[in-house]
Amino acid sequence: MLNNDRNNVESVARRQVLAGTGALAAGVALAGLGGLVSTAHATGRDMTAWPWPYRKLDPAATAEIAYNEWYRVFCGAAVINSVFSQLKEKVGEPYASFPSDAFVFLEGGQLGWGTICGSAAGANIVANLIIGPRISGTSEGHEISADIMQWYSETELPTYTPKKPKITARLPTTTSDSPLCHISVGRWMKAANKPLKSKERKDRCARVAASTAFRLVELLNQWKDGDYEATSDFSCAKENGITGQYNCMDCHGENVPQPPMPKT
Ligand code: HEC
Repeated sequence: MLNNDRNNVESVARRQVLAGTGALAAGVALAGLGGLVSTAHATGRDMTAWPWPYRKLDPAATAEIAYNEWYRVFCGAAVINSVFSQLKEKVGEPYASFPSDAFVFLEGGQLGWGTICGSAAGANIVANLIIGPRISGTSEGHEISADIMQWYSETELPTYTPKKPKITARLPTTTSDSPLCHISVGRWMKAANKPLKSKERKDRCARVAASTAFRLVELLNQWKDGDYEATSDFSCAKENGITGQYNCMDCHGENVPQPPMPKT
């Protein structure tokens, strides 16, 4: 029974209600249950029982959390926390036990290496934890992630303006044509003529995290309603015989190399 999520959530809710009334009898009963409760907490919920319980969230409220969290844990963990901190309140486990702050390393395209933007990586971690990985028998987490990659690459970012921005001057928006932090940040810094350590660049990235969290929650809400339809059909590996993005000429110019292809 303790592995059953619904029972678990209900019993947690019941404990909270009982605790809230301050009823003495309930308090005594709870004290007696102490050992059991802590065992249940240590065991937790089966984290591989997908999908994880999801309640629809407000995209703008989520974006605000992501924006503010950026200044604490940077892009990747900010996006994860923007969703999971709310679900921790609304649902409880497994979100309550999930250590989102561990994903601070996603900053700067992973520790400043400029690979995938942490905002996109964080969003994809969230979608695949909630919906489940493709090998679990559902492909929608995978599809939402592909949509996030394409949206991130094609959209003039940031799209979201926070209610109380730390920078009040208008910030330029740029299209990266790539989910890579290096290219995304680089194109923006060129357009804005602001260095990496500037307040403006930091706020731009906080807003990109907020924009990505907003988009992610829109997609998750559609999924929850049964209205989600994948939009990205891009598969570089299939089309070009090599993993990558659609912007081959950005780096290779006119002479895009042809990888060895299977004989047909
Ligand atoms: C972010 C920059 C970047 C993008 C975008 C990019 N490449 Fe590359 N690619 C490279 C670099 C750098 C190398 C290594 C080049 C070398 O070793 O000479 C490489 C190597 C390759 C190779 C290995 C063979 C060779 O000649 O080096 C192939 C094939 C290739 N790229 C194809 C593509 C295709 C097709 C696309 C688009 C779908 C693409 N690349 C997009 C940077 C990029």
